[in-house]
Amino acid sequence: MDFSKIEKEAIEKINSVEDLNELEKVRLSYLGKKGNISQEMKNIANLSIEEKKEVGKKLNNLKNLIHKKIEEQKIIIKKFITNKKISGEKIDLSLPSRNFKSGKIHPISQTIEEVINIFSSMGFSVAEGPDIETDYNNFTALNIPPHHPARDMQDTFYLTDNEKEKLVLRTHTSPVQIRTMFKNKPPLKIIVPGRTYRCDSDSTHSPMFHQVEGLLVDQSSTMAHLKGCLIDFLKAFFEIDTLKYRFRPSYFPFTEPSAEMDVAYKKISGVLKFGEGSDWLEILGCGMVNPRVLDNCGIDSKKFQGFAFGMGIERISMLKYGITDLR
Ligand code: DAH
Repeated sequence: MDFSKIEKEAIEKINSVEDLNELEKVRLSYLGKKGNISQEMKNIANLSIEEKKEVGKKLNNLKNLIHKKIEEQKIIIKKFITNKKISGEKIDLSLPSRNFKSGKIHPISQTIEEVINIFSSMGFSVAEGPDIETDYNNFTALNIPPHHPARDMQDTFYLTDNEKEKLVLRTHTSPVQIRTMFKNKPPLKIIVPGRTYRCDSDSTHSPMFHQVEGLLVDQSSTMAHLKGCLIDFLKAFFEIDTLKYRFRPSYFPFTEPSAEMDVAYKKISGVLKFGEGSDWLEILGCGMVNPRVLDNCGIDSKKFQGFAFGMGIERISMLKYGITDLR
């Protein structure tokens, strides 16, 4: 058997292949079960001991060489395919733009803008916080300690790469209450629009959604002020003066007492009429800031008090603009 001839032939064949399927065929023709080299390996059995040693070694070397060459050619072919693909993906900057008559602001952005406008007119300023929060700000400081069942209702996305402190994608805008109270002393009067996250997904829940938080801290504000503020807001936002609403006792760890606000609606032949009727839609959570939360932020709860509220932007957008599926 002429080893150097086979070697030369094999290398020439491998180098000339430009396609991965072809390369695999070449590989099988030498190294496959019925390939040249494999057949020769079988024939070794008939040789003398001396010959076995010599031929076996040469065959093994040839086998390794062919294998190596094939792997090298594979890399060359793959590079070639990638380069060809990239060169075909040039962006044609000369393409004329599509003929849009006008653009529209996204309903979520529009709603956030409207909410800010109304609360600004009542003297609230806008505060912001990061989407990635510490476990402490998102839960513990808001009187939701690690063992608290309220954590279950706000299952979120935990980030694991920080060893010092657990980080989460914030489940509500309430942690910005904590950030604000740590940084500034009362009187405080803020709203916080922003993105929030939970492990939820269906026609009325999305894993990423938006909330607006409100916080007022001073020495004299009461539940009556909270109610007045929210009633004024909803009437202005939905542009319904006769809006029918109710406050329902509820529970939030960070407010005491706590309430939820519902707005009335009725369905007339399948169409939702909002602001009147005898059915109720929950629209927001609110309450008097729990003294523990004030103390957690270094604000003297014997001297200061206040109220807070939080609502879902998608929820109020869907109601105002008659959107039935969040997606
Ligand atoms: N953070 C609450 C939630 O996402 C909403 C909320 C309720 C915010 C009551 C508040 C509040 O500030 O006082 O479910």
